[in-house]
Amino acid sequence: MRILVADAFPAASLAELADGGHEYEYQPDTTADQLAERLTGYDVLVVRSTKVTAATIETAESLRLIIRAGSGTNTIDCAAAAERGIYVCNVPGRNAVAVAELTFGLLLALDRNIPDNVIDLRAGRWDKKRYSRANGILGRRIGVVGLGQIGLAFAERAAAFGAKVYAVAKAERDTESARRAAGAGIEFVSDLDELARTCDVLSFHLPAAENTRQLINRDLLAKVPAGALILNTSRGELVDEDALIEAMETKGVRAGLDVYADEPGTATGQIESRLAKHPNVYGTHHIGASTEQAQQAVADEVVRMIGAFTQGAPPHCV
Ligand code: MLT
Repeated sequence: MRILVADAFPAASLAELADGGHEYEYQPDTTADQLAERLTGYDVLVVRSTKVTAATIETAESLRLIIRAGSGTNTIDCAAAAERGIYVCNVPGRNAVAVAELTFGLLLALDRNIPDNVIDLRAGRWDKKRYSRANGILGRRIGVVGLGQIGLAFAERAAAFGAKVYAVAKAERDTESARRAAGAGIEFVSDLDELARTCDVLSFHLPAAENTRQLINRDLLAKVPAGALILNTSRGELVDEDALIEAMETKGVRAGLDVYADEPGTATGQIESRLAKHPNVYGTHHIGASTEQAQQAVADEVVRMIGAFTQGAPPHCV
């Protein structure tokens, strides 16, 4: 089994691949354009944020399996892969706590203006009055949109900080996620509009899909209270960037964002997003999953999947 690992991967997991008798090439800085030139002769591609386009897939004659070392598969042209009979698998859940932790970090940063505090102090400015009013999390109404593993982990953390946590009721109540939600004291409201009208903070934890595209739009933002906080660490595609900027400018909405509609992937480069540069945004570089623990947990699963695939087990495709 010849494997191309095209994004950063823990050394211990690479060693495990070698121990398992797999031949791998480790090229962690591969850009989307380089990927097409490098894929020849490989059976398996392991990739994190580098885009895998239809054109790339077209060149990969021997490729049989693409593993996305994360949960979202929107960076991979799954339809093109399916057409060529190439399996595409993801690793959901393993990085959920890391993403929830970053979401919480963005919430605290917004509430207490931590980044601006730091910038002022670094410039030698002392302005205690400017930063002496904050809302705090205790008793705040936090709406969680999407109660998958990440949404739940965030909701549990918010509840532990004393927030009142709300989510949209789902039809299927008898699931593990519904039980965990009940255990964390999450209350349910009937729909997203109610959540938007009644919460001070809205945190989005949804995949990029047809029905989530630009969910954070003018209509929804018209319902949130002035000064509301929007958190999005899931996918940039969820946001109508112009509408969010308008809400920031007309009603003091602020946002903590880790994701943007047009990201340069793992390559170092420029980001064009006006949102990322807006003063009402504290933004990070799509680093939600980037903790040692999460990356190791994801890599453990990738190694396990490759082992199972080699043994002929059918992969769990997306
Ligand atoms: C995910 O889809 O799990 C994250 O976006 C992955 C990542 O950035 O590694």
